[in-house]
Amino acid sequence: MLSFNDYKNLVDERLLDFLPDTGNYANVLKESMEYSLGIGGKRLRPVLLLASCDAAGGDADRALPYACAVEYIHTYSLIHDDLPAMDDDDMRRGKPSNHKVYGEAMAILAGDGLLNSAAELITAQALDLREDADALYAHSRAAHEILRRSGASGMIAGQTADVMNEDKEASADLVRFIEEHKTADLITAPVRAGLMLAQADESMIDDFTTYAKNLGIAFQIADDILDYEGNEELMGKTLGKDLEQDKCNYVSVHGMQDAKAELHRLSSEAKDAIRKYDNSDFFIELADMLESRNN
Ligand code: IPE
Ligand code: IPE
Ligand code: MG
Ligand code: MG
Ligand code: MG
Repeated sequence: MLSFNDYKNLVDERLLDFLPDTGNYANVLKESMEYSLGIGGKRLRPVLLLASCDAAGGDADRALPYACAVEYIHTYSLIHDDLPAMDDDDMRRGKPSNHKVYGEAMAILAGDGLLNSAAELITAQALDLREDADALYAHSRAAHEILRRSGASGMIAGQTADVMNEDKEASADLVRFIEEHKTADLITAPVRAGLMLAQADESMIDDFTTYAKNLGIAFQIADDILDYEGNEELMGKTLGKDLEQDKCNYVSVHGMQDAKAELHRLSSEAKDAIRKYDNSDFFIELADMLESRNN
């Protein structure tokens, strides 16, 4: 196993290399995609994919394109999330949001481009696996996992519930649906995909799914807490937006004190699910780091 930063460096070194060529008349599309990928980001999701693959004895090099594809999907979701029609945010990753630099049309197209590039990159991996039926099956499961959890029953469903329920009376159930889908699905997908690529045991995949789901919901609750209490410079985005837009989230429905308790409970549950594994240190430290994060 490597450290978080070493996995992150592997991702950062290759992230832009996997983008397709856009052709002379569409250079601005590539520039706009590269802008949002290049301005930073914690790279949590691709690191989780590489670390999960490694933890199950897989080949992290082979997993790198899948990891980068997950970051493309995450970055597209942020570009679209920031659009005036959605959360209307001017800052992202410490820089002006994509649409502030390239305009709304290009921000929509950059998001489309990143999503499709992710699908191209993932599916291209199968082309080398013709002779190895087990590896081809592992690839298909991982590809399906990533595309399904980022799709209309996953992240996009969560974003829908989020934007359609501003200014509305929210239930605890609705809040959990939003957290689970808009955020936890895109954290669970790379963990499961990394393990699938490594052809891990089903029981290990189940335990790490429990870890990732709890970690993912906790991650969103931390984001919601930080929207009230965080430091704008460290977070790299405008804060106080959730209150302003009357968003339905854990803090608005249950209050700040309960939100902090729930963050701690979910983080503990995540860690307990995987404690018995040899390489659990990495994942336990990550959960601790995310519980007390300030960015
Ligand atoms: C932001 O995700 C969107 C949420 C799901 C809360 P991150 O906090 O991982 O954003 P980056 O990738 O570090 O910019
Ligand atoms: C965004 O949730 C989740 C996705 C982009 C899928 P938020 O709207 O809370 O994320 P931030 O606070 O803008 O980063
Ligand atoms: Mg949003
Ligand atoms: Mg937002
Ligand atoms: Mg937020």
